[in-house]
Amino acid sequence: MKILFINGTNKIGGGELSLLSIAKYYRKNSAVVSFDNGDYTNLLQENGIVSIVLKNAKELLNIKREDGILGSLLKIKYLFLTIFELRKLIKDYDIIYCNSQKSIFLGLLSTLFIRKKVVIHVRDMMDNPNISNFHKKIFVFLINFRRPVIIANSVATKEALISIGIKRKIEVVYNGIMIKDLKKREKEKKKKFIIAMFSRISHWKGQKYFIKAVKLLKDKKEFENMEFWIVGDALMNDKDKDYKSYILKLIKKYDLEDKIKLFGFIKNSIELMQNIDILVLPSIYPEPFGRVVVEAMLLKKVVIATNHGGVTEIIENNKSGILVDVENLAYDISESILKLYNDKEFYKYLAENGNKRAIENFTEEKMLKNIDNIIKD
Ligand code: UDP
Ligand code: GLC
Repeated sequence: MKILFINGTNKIGGGELSLLSIAKYYRKNSAVVSFDNGDYTNLLQENGIVSIVLKNAKELLNIKREDGILGSLLKIKYLFLTIFELRKLIKDYDIIYCNSQKSIFLGLLSTLFIRKKVVIHVRDMMDNPNISNFHKKIFVFLINFRRPVIIANSVATKEALISIGIKRKIEVVYNGIMIKDLKKREKEKKKKFIIAMFSRISHWKGQKYFIKAVKLLKDKKEFENMEFWIVGDALMNDKDKDYKSYILKLIKKYDLEDKIKLFGFIKNSIELMQNIDILVLPSIYPEPFGRVVVEAMLLKKVVIATNHGGVTEIIENNKSGILVDVENLAYDISESILKLYNDKEFYKYLAENGNKRAIENFTEEKMLKNIDNIIKD
């Protein structure tokens, strides 16, 4: 069975890391098509995966409203050229597997009236108000017309698809993570209590609320012994870059430059994550899944995350982690941090339950088995 994976961005986000596991498993007779060269295509090659870069798709990566009609028309030219390129490629494969939003559009368009099996792996909340209604309508139309096999990365993502009008069967396959041969962490003598975010810097990931929570802890006696990390960078677009300058200013304004350490994007982030005590994921919109949550649980760390989206399928509140409401995000995070710092029994209870839950439900092995069953079907 030859599989052609289509992947939308050349940046390394969670959707791309999840695809990496899948493509690696099938690498003997498959390839991953990308829209442009970049960090992700390098990563594919490092993993021995055949990587194909389209010639005309680069332009499609940055479609913006400001492009105006003329700009959009120019893009349409690239759209047709890309579809043409893909239709030629597709001939040599049995299954076309589209990962995330942009590649789903392209994949469905390119396989119209071609008799190939198409799988779409949805990793976005398609009911998001930031996605235009027009965009949603085309998405639904293409799916209902082309009739692909649909995989969602959580029940939350599946329900969002149903709510915008998808009537076909939707399989849920949770992401799974493999943690292997970690270099043993060095035992520091007097280590601080480390609270960290491991997310790309973007408005909806909520770094702002993390920083506000740190500010709320400033006058507490426990603060002295705490350290805060922001791991990740503004990856996807200019808006993310603006948000990054905003949070840098915020850190300065609150006089927290000595307390919050910024790492930028880290390649083997799980290795670094070994050193933390608490992982925070304060997304302000529902997270479709949230790989970092599982990674931290596999490392026996306690997670504090917002109570919505796919994360609520991973964490059981006060049993395998802590879920906080989006309304009082900063305050609730700061209170949860204090509780975990002071109540070692509670910390241990959550860390152990979380670890057990992640090992039972969110391993790479389990994910690959589920995907393989769908593909063989
Ligand atoms: N990550 C990374 N380097 C960083 C920050 C994060 O490799 O500097 C990884 C993180 O460990 C996780 C992924 O990026 O595997 C993010 O996935 P998640 O599902 O949490 O969020 P997404 O980016 O997909 O919205
Ligand atoms: C997307 C989502 C994230 C999810 C990842 C992998 O990037 O934002 O929540 O974990 O896909 O499916």
